[in-house]
Order: sequence, then structure tokens, then C-alpha cells
Amino acid sequence: MLNGEKKIARPFRWAMVGGGRLSQVGYKHRTGALRDNTAFKLVAGAFDIDAERGKEFGVNIGVDENRCYPDYKTMFAEEANREDGIEVVSIATPNGTHYEICKAALEAGLHVICEKPLFFTSEEGEEIKALAARKGKIVGVTYGFSGNQMLLQMRAMIEQGKIGDIRMVELQYTHGFSANDAADKTSAAQKWRVDPKVAGPSFVLGDLSTHTYYMSQLIMPQMKIKKLLCDRQSFVGSRAPLEDNAYVLMHYENGAVGRLWTSSVNTGCMDGHRIRIVGSKGSLEWWDNLGGELKYEVQGEPTQTLIRAMPYLDDSCNADERLGALHVEGLSDSWANIYLKFAIAMDAKNRNDEETLKNLVYPDIDAGLDGIRWIENCVRSADNGSTWVEFEYKKAALV
Ligand code: NAI
Repeated sequence: MLNGEKKIARPFRWAMVGGGRLSQVGYKHRTGALRDNTAFKLVAGAFDIDAERGKEFGVNIGVDENRCYPDYKTMFAEEANREDGIEVVSIATPNGTHYEICKAALEAGLHVICEKPLFFTSEEGEEIKALAARKGKIVGVTYGFSGNQMLLQMRAMIEQGKIGDIRMVELQYTHGFSANDAADKTSAAQKWRVDPKVAGPSFVLGDLSTHTYYMSQLIMPQMKIKKLLCDRQSFVGSRAPLEDNAYVLMHYENGAVGRLWTSSVNTGCMDGHRIRIVGSKGSLEWWDNLGGELKYEVQGEPTQTLIRAMPYLDDSCNADERLGALHVEGLSDSWANIYLKFAIAMDAKNRNDEETLKNLVYPDIDAGLDGIRWIENCVRSADNGSTWVEFEYKKAALV
């Protein structure tokens, strides 16, 4: 159980790029990073594309006026001249900016925590992975839902054979908030999501399903996709070629099959985020909107609902518990869990503690790269007439 006591010697001096006043995701980063007062201290930022608004915002949330910078380049340069300069930066800007900011941050000697989808191409991902390795830095990726400890319970139960051999994998991340094009014209955050120059080669495959794909890998690290078929649509025609709905069929190397549905045009749906794993002995099912519960079904026996924080859960699950079973936990706690692991990873990296790094389960650069490859494979299939394609895990490395 976590109670905010320190896990590392002192908090990291932390900055943000983006995540300002009008941003959708910025507060999730802060609520995650600052939950345990012992892991991060927000000391600087280039919070906004609008420098004035960014400064005003930074001051409002308690950052020293002199450390609210007009842009990330100025911030990296000026912070490097300070003895108490920043050590890590989170990048919470639109997709098309991640690569250049991440590269600049690593070159400035910083650890990086970056939004998903990480970059547009796996070549960029490999390049940044090599750069991070040369610099001895961590790149964490904010798959924010993945800090929910019940996912670790699923991982442990699958590992312990509680559902037998995995046969079917059902993944879904859908909502209906883009059922029409109203926000495409009025919301800054939606406008860039449907513009390939900023969003990249996909809309919902990158925006939504990269989360669920990573969570499936977290739950079933041994499961590798052999081939997939992706069928994507732009029901709001102006979004083409970017999809607002997609179905993906998967064949895994062990003979299991799976399907993923991702959509922002699931009209009326507030939060359809679900993972169901069906095995030869039993099944496990988790819904994001009931994130403290896990359904465990064994054929012929009463269905069990496992509840967060109870002593019958696996130690790996309860290690990330914060509030106790009498109270509700949610997305903020999930973010706090991954941010704490980013801090532990960065601290271990600084101390060359490879043993800790090897055993720490968190969304790292490889998880980010896998998300890029997931999108690449889906788009390749869809744009090839929705045909089956072999899943390419790694293209020829550039370095
Ligand atoms: P948004 O459009 O709501 O906010 C973007 C923010 O970045 C704004 O504050 C804007 O002023 C700022 N910005 C843009 N360019 C900048 C630059 N060069 N320097 C400094 N600030 C800059 O976008 P939203 O929805 O917050 O998404 C941002 C990123 O977070 C995207 O990559 C998105 O995919 C991801 N995201 C992740 C979520 C998660 O659960 N992990 C949830 C929502 C978004």
C-alpha cells in the first residue's frame, strides 16, 4: 500500500511543456506527478503555445514567474545554466510536436515523460530510444489508465494459470463525443486530432486504442500478435483519411485470436473502455468505468467480482493501493501510480541500478514504440484494402 512516503532520496525538479490552461491533459499530469509530494516538484514550464497565457497560468499554479518560459527551447537553455535547473520534463502537447521536443529535451540532458502516441513513425522512436540510451535517460509514456492496479491483478492471475490458456482477447475503447463534426470546428483539441499534419497517420487508433493495446500487453506480456486486419472508417467524411472508427482482428502467435474496437462515434457512449480475456479455464473482465472491480468467471461456477484493496488480491496489485477498499479510487490514482514509477525509474537510472529497472513494470520507451508500431501495422492493413498483414515488431534499426 502506498502512503506518500518517499521512495527516492528527494523529489525530481520537474517542468512541463504544454499542459496549460486550456489543455485537456495537463492537469492529469500534475495530479499524477504531485500526488506523492516526495516524487516531483513542479519548478518550471513552457505551458502554452501562447507565451503570455502560459506565464499567467504558471504563476497561478505556483511556479516562479522567472521560470515560466515563452517556449521549450528557451526553457531548456536557461534551466541548463541554473544549479537547481530542471531534471525531467513532461511533454503534453499535440502529437506532431512530441518528437522534436523529446529530442531537444534528451539533448539537454533531461529525463522525459511524453504523451502518447509517442511519435509518428517507428524510425523516430528507434532514434529517440538510441539517443536516450546514449544520454542515460528514461523516456516514460503516459498511458494514464495503465496505473490501475487491477490490471496487475489480471497479469498475476493469467501468469498463475487462473484462466488457463488464452483463447480470445476482446479490447474496446470507444466513446461518442465525436459523433458529429461540431467540435472539429470549435474545439482546439479536436481540430488538431483530425488533422494528419498534427495528429499523425490516425485519429482514434492513436488517440484511444494505443492505451488499450498497451494495457493488453501489460496484462499479457507473453502474448505477441502474429498478424492483424484493420478496417477503418471516417463516418464524418471531412476527417478522411483519419478514422473515427476502427475494427481490428488479431491472430496471436500462440493461436489465440482477438479483436479491438475503437471509436469516437459510438453515439451516446460516455466511456466504453473494456478488456475481456477468455481462457480455457476461465475469463477475466475489466471496465474502466468500474475500475476497482474485476470479474472472474469460471464455467459452471458463480461469477466472482474481485474488489480493489482486498487481501485476497495479489501482492503486486495491492502494492499500488492508496486509499483502502472502503473508498473509491480512480484515474488520478492511476496517473499517480505511473508517475511514481517514472520517478523510481529515473532515480534507478541515475544510480545505474539496472536490477530495479529490469523489475519495474511501467510504460517505458519500448511501450511507446510498440504503440507507434501498433498504429503503423493497423494503418498498413487498412490502407491495403483491410487485408491481413504480418505484424512488424521492428523495422531495420537506424543506428
Ligand atoms: P490540447 O489541444 O487540449 O492541449 C495542448 C496544449 O499544448 C495547450 O495548452 C497548448 O497551448 C500547448 N501547446 C501546443 N504546442 C505547444 C508548444 N510548442 N509549446 C508549448 N505548449 C504547446 O491537447 P490535449 O488533448 O491536452 O493533448 C495533448 C497530448 O496529450 C496529445 O498528444 C494527446 O494525444 C495526449 N492525451 C493523452 C491523454 C492520456 O490519457 N494520456 C488524454 C488526452 C490527451
